[in-house]
Amino acid sequence: MEKVGIFFGSSTGNTENIANQLKGLLGTAEVFNVADTKPEKMAEFTNIILGTSTWGVGDLQDDMIEFAEGIAGVDLKGKVVALYGLGDQSGYGDTYCDGMGELYQKLQGKGCKIVGFVSTEGYDFSASKAAEGSEFVGLALDQMNQDDKTEERLNAWVAELKKQFA
Ligand SMILES: Cc1cc2nc3c(=O)[nH]c(=O)nc-3n(C[C@H](O)[C@H](O)[C@H](O)COP(=O)(O)O)c2cc1C
Repeated sequence: MEKVGIFFGSSTGNTENIANQLKGLLGTAEVFNVADTKPEKMAEFTNIILGTSTWGVGDLQDDMIEFAEGIAGVDLKGKVVALYGLGDQSGYGDTYCDGMGELYQKLQGKGCKIVGFVSTEGYDFSASKAAEGSEFVGLALDQMNQDDKTEERLNAWVAELKKQFA
């Protein structure tokens, strides 16, 4: 597997924590905080993971807003991209992990392959822009209400990514 570029936006450290755990599980990855990384950096990787939390009511994490705008200007043809999102399905059950859904939208028509969809089974939310039918468009995590499930979810997701990444 080629090296993975992990790009995260995080306000209180949860999404950052997960980025570092993903690095450990993948074995070969570099981690970048989008607060001080240009979207063009993604071009250096064939395998890319984008992680964001959701703030406000369904908004992208602050630093991720500008980075996500910049995705339009980066050539992602042939790349393999996976998404993860952090949210709070109990406190924000109508906008659970919406930020991840926004990232997914930005990737449409970019010519990259998006992998790592995850079943919505086992989650308890009413609405999410990151859900399509019975699947999330990436890995949804919830450190507020289901942190006991995070390790298992991460392990299963990484096993899948290792099959899908170039
Ligand atoms: C003011 C506020 C607004 C939030 N809005 C949402 C939301 O709309 N949807 C959601 O799923 N989570 C929401 N959350 C939960 C955060 O996404 C969650 O705490 C996350 O773990 C933060 O990750 P970070 O530390 O990497 O930024 C909100 C949290 C706060 C404090």
